[in-house]
Amino acid sequence: MLRGDVGLELGQRVARALRVALDVDITAEEALIRPSNRDGADYQCNVAMSLAKKIGKNPREVAALIVEHLDAQDAIETPEIAGPGFINLKLRREWLEAQAASLVGDSRLGVPETDEPRRIAIDYSSPNVAKEMHVGHLRSTIIGDAFCRLLTFAGHEVIPHNHLGDWGTPFGMLIEHLTDEGQGAEHEISDLNAFYQQARQKFDSDPGFADRARRRVVLLQGGDEATLKLWHELVGESQRHFNQIYELLGIGLSAGDNYGESFYNPYLADTITELQQKGLIETSDGALCVFPPGFSNREGDRLPLIVRKSDGGYGYATTDFATVRYWVRDRKVDELIYVVGTPQSQHFQMIFATSKQAGWLDDAHTAVHTGFGTILGADGKTIRTRAGGTIKLIDLLTEAVENAYKVMPETSDVEGADKDALARTIGLGAVKYADLSNDREKDYVFTWEKMLAHTGDTSVYIQYAIARINAIGRMVGRVPADDAPLILQEQAERDLALKLLQLPTAIQAAIDELAPHKLTNYLFETATAFTAFYSSASVSKAETQELQDSRLQLLALTSRVLTLGLSLLGIGAPERL
Ligand code: ARG
Repeated sequence: MLRGDVGLELGQRVARALRVALDVDITAEEALIRPSNRDGADYQCNVAMSLAKKIGKNPREVAALIVEHLDAQDAIETPEIAGPGFINLKLRREWLEAQAASLVGDSRLGVPETDEPRRIAIDYSSPNVAKEMHVGHLRSTIIGDAFCRLLTFAGHEVIPHNHLGDWGTPFGMLIEHLTDEGQGAEHEISDLNAFYQQARQKFDSDPGFADRARRRVVLLQGGDEATLKLWHELVGESQRHFNQIYELLGIGLSAGDNYGESFYNPYLADTITELQQKGLIETSDGALCVFPPGFSNREGDRLPLIVRKSDGGYGYATTDFATVRYWVRDRKVDELIYVVGTPQSQHFQMIFATSKQAGWLDDAHTAVHTGFGTILGADGKTIRTRAGGTIKLIDLLTEAVENAYKVMPETSDVEGADKDALARTIGLGAVKYADLSNDREKDYVFTWEKMLAHTGDTSVYIQYAIARINAIGRMVGRVPADDAPLILQEQAERDLALKLLQLPTAIQAAIDELAPHKLTNYLFETATAFTAFYSSASVSKAETQELQDSRLQLLALTSRVLTLGLSLLGIGAPERL
């Protein structure tokens, strides 16, 4: 039994009733208990309709049988059957009070740990060395970080890894450019994009340079020490830029989590040999290719992934095969999650299809690509600077923090360094929340006004709710005893308590569907339930001390639920604003 999850508890009871009445076996989830506010109900049970078809009975008849055999007098009022066979369930007040009170001493607020822990590798952020991170990497970083937090909290073992683009032919020209600049160890590349473009330009216009660059690639791949040293310098330089962003955003990725393309270099030849032994490789125009089943172009020709080019070089796909093989075989993970933009969807589907043929992936070793849409500017096109250039992440994040000062309350008594920390929590939280609260697969429009609004579905609204709750606590100046009873007198406090009990379902949905917006929706609804409570039930002027204690308790729980929810998304909750 999942403690605290009211819907599942009711589901269990409905399942029991069905066993007794009809000798039918279903799980608590299959009882289809959904929150509802029809006809004064708290939940609605929808199983009668789907079950009736299966067992050849009338749905209302099935509903009546469930109601007749339901052993739940302690938890609910007499159920009512509505429409084609919905069962309306209204919780008894005392039962709801006891359920909510059980959250007080529970550090997990009713959220169970999984009984099937998996070992999960998450590929996220994954920017390219010697290039600035762009907004696509921002989405990957924010979403991947939320996955890590959610899955870890649920009790899974999570291994984050950063699949840096740190290898391949561009490094020939980048290293040559670095040597030309000749600034050695104290060299500092302040503008990665400009550095990359200069190298590119020289490569395109100066055949001598292009020759040197090509020779450099051979040296790099051959492991030439001097070349590797320069390559390390470039990687280190980029790492400094990435770390700056990770630190600002509070992302847990560090150098120890780097598994860049270069890491897999020693595994590439073996990976290809294995594909060859399994009969999966064909030669086409001198290149070695695989043809994953089920992929063809409009003309019906099979689509290849090239694993070794005709010049002997390896590519992006080769590395990704080695990646799957490494994590499943050497690191023994059960699941691979790739947080990479939707344009790479076909690439991953093809990688996974061939990996199944190779036996690296199977029913017990799965891989999923969680794509995401584009961040759009107000004009509905990919977000750009005013001058039309690509946005540097660091500039965007700096602007977020600057804007956050503007939404702090004028009455705020937070000062100095605390104020700067607060601005970061608000501003960067808003950027993360705006991203996570949109359906991951969709594009979304980036607007400061919307994401920093005090009302509506924003982190600012939720952070304000938490700060207000803390302020009420300070104002009343009393801390109720842990076992102070909860008294759910007003409708608004009943609604709020019920919401608090639905946290496990929200977290489960966010995990099952790898959809953080399921959790943000819940947090927004909970903050809204708090606002309604706050405007209809007074805490400081509660009629009795018992009632005041109960309300303080309910608010403390609300603050804990909101704070935990935000933290699972990587968003902070300031004590005060
Ligand atoms: N570096 C790549 C890019 O910026 C993303 C890498 C994603 N991960 C992978 N295993 N291919 O597009």
